[in-house]
Amino acid sequence: MSSTKPIGLFDSGIGGTSIWREIHNLLPHEDTIYLADSKNAPYGKKTKQEIIDLSAKNVDFLLEQDCKIIVVACNTATTNAIKELREKYDVPFIGIEPAIKPAANLSSTQTIGILATKGTLNSELFNKQVENYTNVNILEQVGYGLVELIEGGKIDSEEMRNLLKIYLRPMVKANIDYLVLGCSHYPYLIPEIEKIIPKHVRIIDSGQAVAKQTKAILEKNGLLNTSENKAKNLFYVNSDAAVLKNILGFSTNVFQKDF
Ligand code: SIN
Repeated sequence: MSSTKPIGLFDSGIGGTSIWREIHNLLPHEDTIYLADSKNAPYGKKTKQEIIDLSAKNVDFLLEQDCKIIVVACNTATTNAIKELREKYDVPFIGIEPAIKPAANLSSTQTIGILATKGTLNSELFNKQVENYTNVNILEQVGYGLVELIEGGKIDSEEMRNLLKIYLRPMVKANIDYLVLGCSHYPYLIPEIEKIIPKHVRIIDSGQAVAKQTKAILEKNGLLNTSENKAKNLFYVNSDAAVLKNILGFSTNVFQKDF
């Protein structure tokens, strides 16, 4: 069995394109539809119920486009809403959780850092996950303001560098050897982060793991696109499309739409 229907992805904004890239690299023949709810970013500051409602609105849009699987390419939406989405819709969901496990297992200093939104760090799902790793000291840091700057196209800015220094230097001082990026926006900050942390501190994000999991679930459900077709990738954003086009590095099939 196979399916040529598209994979649907959504995020509170443009950051989930870091997940889209990994999925597109691993599954180059799969059509995709990416939804950036930038108008409502950041989700990390919203209540759980608001995040559930916004996520459901995004899923409705993707299912109207006949998506066969939904990738919640947003940590905050995954940790706050994926359970409710799975209960409500009859389609497979892939979520994105911070890669605590590999960091905890590989750490030699027994101290790891995690940078994520307040919504993720306060969520029940995240706190349950953390309980499994009593062998390591996990330093949590909310990345206040980072998503706003990324959505505003200010990755390479003095403001960004100053915030990153404030958030990362205490963790480095506390001897972390792994830094977990717990927000799908943050992989775009890696070049800036690398200027602040020492070389021996490894950065881990969840993109490749999510792509592998997407492939595995498509296979399990007989939904993999087995054709050799060139994929069609559509991107929708509900605020100015320029920032999304800029982060993608192309403007083909990027549409501004009010949803
Ligand atoms: C946010 O919208 O606050 C960030 C999205 C994420 O957690 O991946």
